[in-house]
Amino acid sequence: MAITHDTIERKTGLLIALVILVVSIGGLVEIVPLFFQKNLIEPVAGLKPYEPLRLVGRDVYIREGCYNCHSQMIRPFRAETERYGPYSVAGEFVYDRPFQWGSKRTGPDLARVGGRYSDDWHRLHLTNPRDVVPESNMPPYAFLDRPIGGPDVSARMKALKILGHPYSDEEIAKAGETIKGKTEMDALIAYLQGLGTQLKTVKG
Ligand code: HEC
Repeated sequence: MAITHDTIERKTGLLIALVILVVSIGGLVEIVPLFFQKNLIEPVAGLKPYEPLRLVGRDVYIREGCYNCHSQMIRPFRAETERYGPYSVAGEFVYDRPFQWGSKRTGPDLARVGGRYSDDWHRLHLTNPRDVVPESNMPPYAFLDRPIGGPDVSARMKALKILGHPYSDEEIAKAGETIKGKTEMDALIAYLQGLGTQLKTVKG
């Protein structure tokens, strides 16, 4: 018996199987090419993987949920590029696992905040935002002024190396040494100061 539209609609199992088939073909056609598009998987020129202190700072950023109020993705619109700088491109985020694009902007986008303020400004601001921006509703993070704890950063780097981040064995071996004596606040500031600074060539 030929499969007519009528039989498909009457046999739920068959209908479900065929729907799944059609949707997966549609999905594959859309998704698979993205894995091979050069501008989506290759780092932009000059992009380097996070050095140990910034990597730790990034973990603090994620742990503290800064992404609940800050996005890290400048959209290609004039209002955005005039305020924040050149719009974000995919190749800037190849070493971000997971990326921090977000969409919630209680505070400003941070994709290119690196270098906009001094380290001292960040320290004051993170300790008590209202000391530098009186109308701010950002919470204070004074408690981050404590030694870096948590898992060994070189283990993190080893794992990222397996995923393709180009860390040398020497960098990994020295990682613990480079963050010795630093606070979580130092790490977070180092992370913020690096944001968006590696891409200076793309015009907004
Ligand atoms: C409840 C929402 C909220 C959370 C959570 C939050 N912020 Fe903010 N943030 C703001 C607001 C609002 C501003 C704008 C006023 C100001 O500068 O304080 C801001 C401003 C900033 C700025 C200055 C940006 C600029 O371009 O002037 C930085 C940097 C920043 N936040 C970093 C962080 C970091 C890092 C964390 C996590 C540790 C964090 N924020 C968590 C709301 C938040």
